[in-house]
Amino acid sequence: MKQRIQDKFKELFGQGGHLYASAGRINLIGEHTDYNGGYVFPGAIDKQLMAQIAPNGTDKVRAFSLDYNEMCEFGLNEEDKPAKAWACYIFGVCRETLKRGGKVEGFDTVFAGDVPLGAGLSSSAALESCFAYAIDTINGNGFDRFELAKIGQSTEHNYCGVNCGIMDQFASCFGKAGCLIRLNCKTLEYKYFPFDPEKAGYRLVLVDSCVKHELASSAYNKRRASCENAAAAIRKNHPEVEFLSDAKRLWLEEVREEIPEEDFLRAEYVIGEVQRVLDVCDALERNDYETAGEMMYQTHFGLSRLYEVSCEELDFLNKLARKMDVTGSRVMGGGFGGCTINLIKKELYDDFVKAATEQFTAKFGHAPKIYDVVISDGARMVE
Ligand code: GLA
Repeated sequence: MKQRIQDKFKELFGQGGHLYASAGRINLIGEHTDYNGGYVFPGAIDKQLMAQIAPNGTDKVRAFSLDYNEMCEFGLNEEDKPAKAWACYIFGVCRETLKRGGKVEGFDTVFAGDVPLGAGLSSSAALESCFAYAIDTINGNGFDRFELAKIGQSTEHNYCGVNCGIMDQFASCFGKAGCLIRLNCKTLEYKYFPFDPEKAGYRLVLVDSCVKHELASSAYNKRRASCENAAAAIRKNHPEVEFLSDAKRLWLEEVREEIPEEDFLRAEYVIGEVQRVLDVCDALERNDYETAGEMMYQTHFGLSRLYEVSCEELDFLNKLARKMDVTGSRVMGGGFGGCTINLIKKELYDDFVKAATEQFTAKFGHAPKIYDVVISDGARMVE
Protein backbone atom coordinates (compact mmCIF):
# COMPACT_ATOMS: atom_id res chain seq x y z
CA MET A 1 0.00 0.00 0.00
CA LYS A 2 2.79 2.39 0.99
CA GLN A 3 4.65 1.89 -2.28
CA ARG A 4 1.51 2.38 -4.38
CA ILE A 5 0.74 5.62 -2.56
CA GLN A 6 4.26 6.93 -2.99
CA ASP A 7 4.39 6.02 -6.69
CA LYS A 8 1.07 7.72 -7.41
CA PHE A 9 2.01 10.79 -5.42
CA LYS A 10 5.22 11.15 -7.41
CA GLU A 11 3.33 10.77 -10.67
CA LEU A 12 0.69 13.38 -9.80
CA PHE A 13 2.51 15.88 -7.60
CA GLY A 14 6.24 15.12 -7.70
CA GLN A 15 8.43 14.78 -4.61
CA GLY A 16 7.71 15.81 -1.08
CA GLY A 17 5.53 15.46 1.95
CA HIS A 18 5.24 12.82 4.61
CA LEU A 19 3.29 9.64 5.15
CA TYR A 20 0.65 9.53 7.85
CA ALA A 21 -1.62 6.68 8.93
CA SER A 22 -4.54 5.87 11.13
CA ALA A 23 -6.53 2.76 11.87
CA GLY A 24 -9.95 1.17 11.90
CA ARG A 25 -11.22 -0.18 15.20
CA ILE A 26 -12.88 -3.05 16.95
CA ASN A 27 -14.97 -2.71 20.08
CA LEU A 28 -14.99 -5.62 22.49
CA ILE A 29 -18.10 -4.41 24.29
CA GLY A 30 -20.02 -1.15 24.92
CA GLU A 31 -22.13 -0.55 21.83
CA HIS A 32 -24.37 2.50 21.38
CA THR A 33 -23.25 3.67 24.81
CA ASP A 34 -20.94 6.48 23.68
CA TYR A 35 -23.59 9.06 22.80
CA ASN A 36 -25.36 8.08 26.04
CA GLY A 37 -22.40 9.09 28.19
CA GLY A 38 -21.53 5.46 29.00
CA TYR A 39 -18.43 3.30 28.61
CA VAL A 40 -16.91 1.82 25.45
CA PHE A 41 -14.00 -0.61 25.14
CA PRO A 42 -12.42 -0.29 21.68
CA GLY A 43 -8.96 -0.74 20.21
CA ALA A 44 -7.34 0.32 16.94
CA ILE A 45 -6.56 -2.54 14.52
CA ASP A 46 -4.01 -3.43 11.87
CA LYS A 47 -6.35 -2.35 9.10
CA GLN A 48 -5.17 1.07 8.11
CA LEU A 49 -5.68 4.23 6.15
CA MET A 50 -2.46 5.78 4.85
CA ALA A 51 -1.89 9.14 3.16
CA GLN A 52 1.04 11.00 1.71
CA ILE A 53 0.48 14.69 2.28
CA ALA A 54 2.48 17.74 1.23
CA PRO A 55 1.62 21.46 1.58
CA ASN A 56 1.22 23.04 -1.87
CA GLY A 57 1.43 26.74 -1.06
CA THR A 58 -2.14 27.48 -2.24
CA ASP A 59 -5.52 27.61 -0.52
CA LYS A 60 -6.64 24.48 -2.35
CA VAL A 61 -6.66 20.80 -1.52
CA ARG A 62 -5.97 18.30 -4.29
CA ALA A 63 -6.80 14.80 -3.12
CA PHE A 64 -6.50 11.52 -4.95
CA SER A 65 -8.17 8.35 -3.66
CA LEU A 66 -6.28 5.30 -4.89
CA ASP A 67 -9.12 2.98 -3.93
CA TYR A 68 -11.67 4.90 -6.01
CA ASN A 69 -9.11 6.00 -8.59
CA GLU A 70 -10.61 9.49 -8.40
CA MET A 71 -9.30 13.00 -7.96
CA CYS A 72 -11.11 15.77 -6.10
CA GLU A 73 -10.14 19.39 -5.69
CA PHE A 74 -11.69 21.93 -3.34
CA GLY A 75 -10.90 25.37 -1.94
CA LEU A 76 -10.40 25.75 1.79
CA ASN A 77 -12.73 28.73 1.86
CA GLU A 78 -15.55 27.03 -0.01
CA GLU A 79 -18.76 26.57 1.94
CA ASP A 80 -20.26 23.78 -0.14
CA LYS A 81 -19.02 20.30 0.42
CA PRO A 82 -17.59 18.30 -2.51
CA ALA A 83 -19.85 16.00 -4.52
CA LYS A 84 -17.77 12.89 -3.87
CA ALA A 85 -18.64 11.25 -0.56
CA TRP A 86 -15.05 10.26 0.27
CA ALA A 87 -13.85 13.84 -0.25
CA CYS A 88 -16.44 15.18 2.23
CA TYR A 89 -14.48 13.57 5.08
CA ILE A 90 -11.30 15.45 4.15
CA PHE A 91 -13.22 18.66 3.47
CA GLY A 92 -15.02 18.31 6.82
CA VAL A 93 -11.78 17.80 8.72
CA CYS A 94 -10.30 20.94 7.13
CA ARG A 95 -13.39 23.01 7.91
CA GLU A 96 -13.67 21.74 11.48
CA THR A 97 -9.99 22.51 12.11
CA LEU A 98 -10.50 26.06 10.80
CA LYS A 99 -13.65 26.45 12.91
CA ARG A 100 -11.60 25.71 16.03
CA GLY A 101 -9.08 28.41 15.16
CA GLY A 102 -6.53 26.06 13.66
CA LYS A 103 -4.48 26.89 10.59
CA VAL A 104 -4.92 24.83 7.42
CA GLU A 105 -2.60 25.36 4.46
CA GLY A 106 -3.55 23.92 1.09
CA PHE A 107 -2.09 20.49 0.39
CA ASP A 108 -1.77 17.66 -2.10
CA THR A 109 -2.49 14.11 -1.03
CA VAL A 110 -2.76 10.55 -2.26
CA PHE A 111 -4.32 8.04 0.10
CA ALA A 112 -5.45 4.42 0.28
CA GLY A 113 -6.78 2.04 2.89
CA ASP A 114 -7.45 -1.59 3.70
CA VAL A 115 -10.18 -1.02 6.29
CA PRO A 116 -13.17 -2.77 4.67
CA LEU A 117 -15.92 -0.26 3.88
CA GLY A 118 -19.33 -0.67 5.49
CA ALA A 119 -18.15 -3.55 7.69
CA GLY A 120 -18.52 -1.65 10.96
CA LEU A 121 -14.76 -1.21 11.35
CA SER A 122 -14.87 2.58 11.06
CA SER A 123 -13.07 3.20 7.82
CA SER A 124 -14.45 6.74 7.99
CA ALA A 125 -12.96 7.42 11.42
CA ALA A 126 -9.62 6.13 10.12
CA LEU A 127 -9.80 8.63 7.27
CA GLU A 128 -10.85 11.51 9.51
CA SER A 129 -8.26 10.92 12.19
CA CYS A 130 -5.44 10.41 9.71
CA PHE A 131 -6.16 13.81 8.18
CA ALA A 132 -6.98 15.51 11.48
CA TYR A 133 -3.63 14.36 12.85
CA ALA A 134 -1.66 15.20 9.71
CA ILE A 135 -3.19 18.67 9.30
CA ASP A 136 -2.51 19.39 12.95
CA THR A 137 1.12 18.30 12.64
CA ILE A 138 1.81 20.10 9.35
CA ASN A 139 0.33 23.39 10.52
CA GLY A 140 1.69 23.18 14.06
CA ASN A 141 -1.76 23.71 15.58
CA GLY A 142 -1.04 21.68 18.70
CA PHE A 143 -4.56 20.36 19.30
CA ASP A 144 -4.60 17.45 21.72
CA ARG A 145 -5.82 14.04 20.61
CA PHE A 146 -9.28 14.55 22.09
CA GLU A 147 -9.69 17.67 19.99
CA LEU A 148 -8.56 15.72 16.92
CA ALA A 149 -11.12 13.01 17.69
CA LYS A 150 -13.80 15.69 18.05
CA ILE A 151 -12.81 17.20 14.70
CA GLY A 152 -13.53 13.79 13.17
CA GLN A 153 -16.80 13.42 15.06
CA SER A 154 -18.03 16.88 14.04
CA THR A 155 -17.13 16.02 10.46
CA GLU A 156 -19.58 13.10 10.67
CA HIS A 157 -22.25 15.33 12.21
CA ASN A 158 -21.89 18.32 9.91
CA TYR A 159 -20.76 16.88 6.58
CA CYS A 160 -21.79 13.21 6.53
CA GLY A 161 -25.22 13.15 8.22
CA VAL A 162 -24.32 10.71 11.02
CA ASN A 163 -25.00 11.91 14.54
CA CYS A 164 -22.35 9.56 15.95
CA GLY A 165 -20.66 9.37 19.33
CA ILE A 166 -16.95 9.72 20.00
CA MET A 167 -15.89 6.07 20.15
CA ASP A 168 -14.57 5.48 16.64
CA GLN A 169 -12.52 8.65 16.35
CA PHE A 170 -11.28 8.20 19.91
CA ALA A 171 -10.08 4.67 19.12
CA SER A 172 -8.36 5.84 15.92
CA CYS A 173 -6.63 8.72 17.70
CA PHE A 174 -5.67 6.96 20.96
CA GLY A 175 -5.12 3.39 19.73
CA LYS A 176 -2.03 1.63 21.08
CA ALA A 177 -0.64 -1.74 20.00
CA GLY A 178 -1.68 -4.58 22.30
CA CYS A 179 -4.19 -2.51 24.30
CA LEU A 180 -7.92 -1.99 24.44
CA ILE A 181 -9.03 1.33 25.89
CA ARG A 182 -11.92 1.79 28.24
CA LEU A 183 -13.34 5.26 27.78
CA ASN A 184 -15.89 6.96 29.97
CA CYS A 185 -17.66 8.98 27.29
CA LYS A 186 -19.09 11.41 29.81
CA THR A 187 -15.93 12.42 31.68
CA LEU A 188 -13.53 11.37 28.88
CA GLU A 189 -11.40 9.51 31.41
CA TYR A 190 -9.74 6.53 29.81
CA LYS A 191 -7.60 3.57 30.76
CA TYR A 192 -5.47 1.25 28.63
CA PHE A 193 -5.97 -2.46 29.26
CA PRO A 194 -3.28 -4.78 27.86
CA PHE A 195 -5.21 -7.35 25.82
CA ASP A 196 -3.48 -10.52 24.75
CA PRO A 197 -6.06 -13.23 24.16
CA GLU A 198 -3.49 -15.53 22.51
CA LYS A 199 -1.59 -15.81 25.76
CA ALA A 200 -4.73 -17.09 27.45
CA GLY A 201 -5.49 -19.53 24.62
CA TYR A 202 -8.05 -17.44 22.73
CA ARG A 203 -8.31 -15.59 19.44
CA LEU A 204 -10.43 -12.76 18.12
CA VAL A 205 -12.01 -13.19 14.73
CA LEU A 206 -14.46 -11.02 12.82
CA VAL A 207 -17.00 -12.53 10.48
CA ASP A 208 -18.27 -10.00 7.96
CA SER A 209 -21.80 -10.69 6.74
CA CYS A 210 -21.11 -8.31 3.82
CA VAL A 211 -24.59 -6.90 4.38
CA LYS A 212 -24.92 -3.13 4.11
CA HIS A 213 -28.09 -1.46 5.29
CA GLU A 214 -29.18 1.34 2.99
CA LEU A 215 -30.75 3.46 5.69
CA ALA A 216 -28.18 2.78 8.38
CA SER A 217 -27.43 6.42 9.13
CA SER A 218 -31.04 7.51 9.52
CA ALA A 219 -31.81 4.42 11.64
CA TYR A 220 -28.76 5.22 13.77
CA ASN A 221 -29.90 8.81 14.31
CA LYS A 222 -33.34 7.51 15.26
CA ARG A 223 -31.86 5.23 17.94
CA ARG A 224 -30.02 8.18 19.38
CA ALA A 225 -33.20 10.27 19.47
CA SER A 226 -35.04 7.45 21.33
CA CYS A 227 -32.32 7.41 23.99
CA GLU A 228 -32.45 11.17 24.40
CA ASN A 229 -36.21 11.03 24.73
CA ALA A 230 -36.01 8.38 27.46
CA ALA A 231 -33.31 10.35 29.29
CA ALA A 232 -35.43 13.53 29.15
CA ALA A 233 -38.41 11.71 30.70
CA ILE A 234 -36.26 10.26 33.52
CA ARG A 235 -34.63 13.65 34.11
CA LYS A 236 -37.99 15.11 35.15
CA ASN A 237 -37.93 12.86 38.22
CA HIS A 238 -34.16 12.75 38.64
CA PRO A 239 -32.55 16.02 37.56
CA GLU A 240 -29.06 14.57 38.03
CA VAL A 241 -29.54 12.47 34.89
CA GLU A 242 -27.51 14.27 32.28
CA PHE A 243 -27.15 11.24 30.00
CA LEU A 244 -29.12 8.03 29.82
CA SER A 245 -26.13 6.21 31.28
CA ASP A 246 -26.66 8.10 34.55
CA ALA A 247 -30.07 6.48 35.01
CA LYS A 248 -30.84 3.44 37.13
CA ARG A 249 -33.00 0.65 35.74
CA LEU A 250 -35.66 1.48 38.33
CA TRP A 251 -35.85 5.09 37.19
CA LEU A 252 -36.54 3.90 33.69
CA GLU A 253 -39.39 1.71 35.00
CA GLU A 254 -40.95 4.82 36.56
CA VAL A 255 -41.46 6.43 33.16
CA ARG A 256 -42.44 3.29 31.27
CA GLU A 257 -45.99 4.50 30.64
CA GLU A 258 -44.89 7.98 29.59
CA ILE A 259 -42.61 7.06 26.71
CA PRO A 260 -43.14 4.95 23.60
CA GLU A 261 -42.44 1.24 24.20
CA GLU A 262 -39.73 1.42 21.56
CA ASP A 263 -37.84 4.10 23.48
CA PHE A 264 -38.19 2.07 26.66
CA LEU A 265 -36.60 -0.98 25.04
CA ARG A 266 -33.72 1.07 23.60
CA ALA A 267 -33.04 2.59 27.00
CA GLU A 268 -33.28 -0.78 28.74
CA TYR A 269 -30.53 -2.09 26.47
CA VAL A 270 -28.25 0.91 27.04
CA ILE A 271 -28.51 0.82 30.83
CA GLY A 272 -27.57 -2.89 30.81
CA GLU A 273 -24.75 -2.39 28.34
CA VAL A 274 -22.99 0.31 30.36
CA GLN A 275 -22.70 -2.10 33.30
CA ARG A 276 -21.51 -4.93 31.04
CA VAL A 277 -18.47 -2.93 29.96
CA LEU A 278 -17.36 -2.60 33.58
CA ASP A 279 -18.04 -6.29 34.19
CA VAL A 280 -16.01 -7.33 31.15
CA CYS A 281 -13.05 -5.18 32.22
CA ASP A 282 -13.17 -6.76 35.68
CA ALA A 283 -13.35 -10.23 34.16
CA LEU A 284 -10.38 -9.59 31.87
CA GLU A 285 -8.30 -8.37 34.78
CA ARG A 286 -8.89 -11.82 36.32
CA ASN A 287 -8.10 -13.45 32.95
CA ASP A 288 -11.68 -14.70 32.96
CA TYR A 289 -12.41 -14.78 29.23
CA GLU A 290 -15.43 -17.04 29.69
CA THR A 291 -17.33 -14.41 31.67
CA ALA A 292 -16.31 -11.72 29.18
CA GLY A 293 -17.62 -13.93 26.36
CA GLU A 294 -20.93 -14.52 28.09
CA MET A 295 -21.40 -10.76 28.35
CA MET A 296 -20.83 -10.47 24.61
CA TYR A 297 -23.73 -12.86 24.02
CA GLN A 298 -25.90 -10.75 26.30
CA THR A 299 -24.95 -7.69 24.29
CA HIS A 300 -25.92 -9.44 21.09
CA PHE A 301 -29.30 -10.34 22.55
CA GLY A 302 -29.85 -6.70 23.54
CA LEU A 303 -28.71 -5.30 20.21
CA SER A 304 -30.90 -7.75 18.35
CA ARG A 305 -34.11 -7.75 20.40
CA LEU A 306 -34.16 -4.48 22.31
CA TYR A 307 -32.07 -2.07 20.25
CA GLU A 308 -32.99 -3.77 16.97
CA VAL A 309 -29.82 -3.06 15.05
CA SER A 310 -29.03 -6.65 14.07
CA CYS A 311 -30.28 -8.49 10.99
CA GLU A 312 -31.04 -12.06 9.95
CA GLU A 313 -27.50 -12.70 8.73
CA LEU A 314 -25.85 -11.49 11.94
CA ASP A 315 -28.31 -13.38 14.15
CA PHE A 316 -27.51 -16.49 12.14
CA LEU A 317 -23.76 -16.07 12.74
CA ASN A 318 -24.35 -15.42 16.42
CA LYS A 319 -26.50 -18.53 16.82
CA LEU A 320 -23.95 -20.65 15.01
CA ALA A 321 -21.21 -19.33 17.31
CA ARG A 322 -23.26 -20.31 20.35
CA LYS A 323 -23.90 -23.76 18.94
CA MET A 324 -20.20 -24.29 18.33
CA ASP A 325 -19.19 -23.20 21.84
CA VAL A 326 -17.50 -20.02 20.74
CA THR A 327 -16.72 -18.14 23.98
CA GLY A 328 -18.28 -14.81 22.98
CA SER A 329 -19.99 -13.44 19.88
CA ARG A 330 -21.99 -10.37 18.98
CA VAL A 331 -22.76 -7.85 16.29
CA MET A 332 -20.15 -5.07 16.41
CA GLY A 333 -20.32 -1.35 15.70
CA GLY A 334 -23.41 0.58 14.68
CA GLY A 335 -25.11 -2.57 13.32
CA PHE A 336 -27.61 -2.98 10.47
CA GLY A 337 -25.08 -5.30 8.80
CA GLY A 338 -21.32 -5.55 9.03
CA CYS A 339 -19.48 -7.98 11.29
CA THR A 340 -19.80 -10.17 14.31
CA ILE A 341 -16.84 -10.09 16.68
CA ASN A 342 -15.99 -13.50 18.11
CA LEU A 343 -13.81 -14.46 21.04
CA ILE A 344 -12.88 -18.08 20.50
CA LYS A 345 -10.64 -20.77 21.98
CA LYS A 346 -7.68 -21.33 19.67
CA GLU A 347 -8.48 -24.99 19.10
CA LEU A 348 -12.00 -24.17 17.86
CA TYR A 349 -10.89 -21.51 15.41
CA ASP A 350 -10.49 -23.61 12.26
CA ASP A 351 -13.75 -25.52 12.72
CA PHE A 352 -15.72 -22.36 13.40
CA VAL A 353 -14.36 -20.44 10.44
CA LYS A 354 -15.06 -23.40 8.15
CA ALA A 355 -18.59 -23.93 9.48
CA ALA A 356 -19.42 -20.21 9.41
CA THR A 357 -18.22 -19.93 5.82
CA GLU A 358 -20.03 -23.05 4.58
CA GLN A 359 -23.30 -22.66 6.43
CA PHE A 360 -23.61 -18.91 5.84
CA THR A 361 -22.93 -19.37 2.13
CA ALA A 362 -25.47 -22.20 1.90
CA LYS A 363 -28.16 -20.06 3.54
CA PHE A 364 -27.52 -16.60 2.10
CA GLY A 365 -25.90 -17.33 -1.24
CA HIS A 366 -22.73 -15.36 -0.62
CA ALA A 367 -19.66 -16.06 1.49
CA PRO A 368 -18.86 -14.06 4.60
CA LYS A 369 -15.40 -12.55 4.94
CA ILE A 370 -13.12 -13.52 7.76
CA TYR A 371 -10.80 -10.95 9.36
CA ASP A 372 -8.14 -11.75 11.94
CA VAL A 373 -7.26 -8.54 13.68
CA VAL A 374 -4.26 -7.40 15.68
CA ILE A 375 -4.67 -4.53 18.14
CA SER A 376 -2.40 -1.81 16.79
CA ASP A 377 -1.43 1.85 16.93
CA GLY A 378 -3.77 4.65 15.85
CA ALA A 379 -3.05 8.01 14.18
CA ARG A 380 0.65 8.70 13.60
CA MET A 381 3.31 9.86 11.22
CA VAL A 382 4.82 6.91 9.36
CA GLU A 383 7.82 8.62 7.75
C1 GLA B 1 -20.93 3.79 15.21
C2 GLA B 1 -20.70 5.19 15.75
C3 GLA B 1 -20.12 5.17 17.16
C4 GLA B 1 -20.92 4.25 18.07
C5 GLA B 1 -21.19 2.91 17.41
C6 GLA B 1 -22.11 2.03 18.20
O1 GLA B 1 -19.72 3.13 15.01
O2 GLA B 1 -19.84 5.92 14.91
O3 GLA B 1 -20.05 6.47 17.68
O4 GLA B 1 -22.11 4.86 18.47
O5 GLA B 1 -21.73 3.05 16.10
O6 GLA B 1 -21.53 1.67 19.40
